[in-house]
Amino acid sequence: MTSSRPRIVAGNWKMHGSRELVRALVPAVQQALPATGHCQVVFCPPAVYLGEVSGLLNHPRCALGAQDVSAQSSGAYTGELAAAMLKELACQFSIVGHSERRRYHGESSELVAAKAAAALAAGLRPIICIGETLAERESERTWAVLEQQLTAIAGLLQHERASELVLAYEPVWAIGTGRTATPEQAQAVHGQVRAWLKQQAPGLAGQLPILYGGSVKADNAAALMAQPDVDGALVGGASLQADEFIAICRSAE
Ligand code: PGA
Repeated sequence: MTSSRPRIVAGNWKMHGSRELVRALVPAVQQALPATGHCQVVFCPPAVYLGEVSGLLNHPRCALGAQDVSAQSSGAYTGELAAAMLKELACQFSIVGHSERRRYHGESSELVAAKAAAALAAGLRPIICIGETLAERESERTWAVLEQQLTAIAGLLQHERASELVLAYEPVWAIGTGRTATPEQAQAVHGQVRAWLKQQAPGLAGQLPILYGGSVKADNAAALMAQPDVDGALVGGASLQADEFIAICRSAE
């Protein structure tokens, strides 16, 4: 049984793309999507293309998202982008705590929580990523790792804008590897995350979307999103191909 929570399919372009791709892909996706439906589609291009994508957005169900946001509101932080700046570019979302940021930029769960708080304060919806590595899964530490990552953001559940939070379970071993979690593996974790949310914030637990990410493709998206606690997808590689991405968005309906 699927839930009545609104669905979200977010395309994380990572450091891929070009102006040419923006101009081809964004209109193609918007043209293919019916105006009404249950699923919101979010484009998360590299920051330099946010303005370009923003100028092309003309679909009621399509929105813009950043791939990262600073924990600071302004100041001498070379290279960082403040949530209020992203908001000015018409961003409605920002991914935070992607495993590539945690791994290559040393982002701790505490920093991820601070980034998510900065996003919420500025009126952006943070898509907070959590996930375990293969070694952690194989040593049966999946839940311990996820619980640590979640505990860091527990305080946000009391935020006045807490209902704007989005979680994304992205097993690190499934990202960019072509090895996706099975629908049952995804549901097992999503169910645990939902149970954790129920303990922390019973009134909110049923409302917050939990997306799955990690090698989501047109041919596995429907089965993943048919799981009761999988409320959408965070899509990397397949979000760069219009046909694949459109098919994933359609399967979220
Ligand atoms: P992938 O990436 O779909 O290419 O596995 C997902 C992600 O990292 O968000």
